[in-house]
Amino acid sequence: MRLSSTPLTSALPLLVALALLSPGCGDDGSATDGPTSESNADTGSTPDSGSTSDTGSTSDTDTDTDTDTDTDADALRCEAPPGLGSPQTIAEVLELMNALPGPVTVPCLVQSLDRPLALTATTSAASAQPAGSENSPRIFIFSGPLVLSIVPSGIGRDFMEFGEPRGNSESLKGELIMPVDKPIPAGLPFEHLRFSSQTTLCGLCHLDEHLAVDQDHPNAFISRAFRPVDDSLVGVDELRERHVNCDAEFDPMRCEILSAVFDHGPVIDQSFPEGLKTIFEP
Ligand code: HEC
Repeated sequence: MRLSSTPLTSALPLLVALALLSPGCGDDGSATDGPTSESNADTGSTPDSGSTSDTGSTSDTDTDTDTDTDTDADALRCEAPPGLGSPQTIAEVLELMNALPGPVTVPCLVQSLDRPLALTATTSAASAQPAGSENSPRIFIFSGPLVLSIVPSGIGRDFMEFGEPRGNSESLKGELIMPVDKPIPAGLPFEHLRFSSQTTLCGLCHLDEHLAVDQDHPNAFISRAFRPVDDSLVGVDELRERHVNCDAEFDPMRCEILSAVFDHGPVIDQSFPEGLKTIFEP
């Protein structure tokens, strides 16, 4: 067991800086503003990409007029069309997001997921998406085998991370910078992940990276999957307390995400698979 001065500890300041920079830096790879139309050979059976007025939504208001005045109406429309609320792959998450009101936000996506919502949370700060604080743990939502990771506040707040399991100990990694404009091209979760010719940003910690040959994107990599360390875990009841005690005037964004988790049906505890290692295990 390695305790101190691992590559991880030395890489952390760099990673924090990168996490801070990446949403804004418009050098070359930044994929923030919409489709880069590079590789959008949409494989998944995306129903439609252009029209925002989907049949599945309950209320059909005028699509153009409700920018940010009508957030309540928007929240009502954050409903998954039948069959799309339990995405099992990154491609299926994009299919769901393309059916939600755009630009798609973290709360809207979380709200749209089928209930019961299964999750675990961690106060760990040792990742690309560190917990914001004791009060704002990193939340892992399990949608079937797929893991979605969000943080209600702090530098990870604008990111949604994905782990699509491959075998027992690895996952395909993807990440979106939220909110995301529609239509979302298939390659967007991988677009900005490249770190060097050898590795992605995720691969700095998630070792043993290898290209996901089925993804048709040069930055789509499979790497080690990690679970949080046990003493960092926060259960559903404890997380719910943070939701109940959240002061929306003081901390609107965090409260909105916690509300998206808890105010739309049952939420249950789920753990990472037993066999999965923590980052500290060889
Ligand atoms: C600084 C190290 C570090 C970096 C960089 C990092 N992670 Fe992680 N990741 C972790 C740790 C540690 C965990 C275990 C959970 C925790 O403690 O937050 C984890 C867990 C995960 C999980 C949960 C299950 C799984 O499949 O591994 C996902 C998904 C994930 N990270 C996605 C990503 C993505 C996507 C990137 C790149 C954009 C990334 N991580 C970059 C450290 C890192």
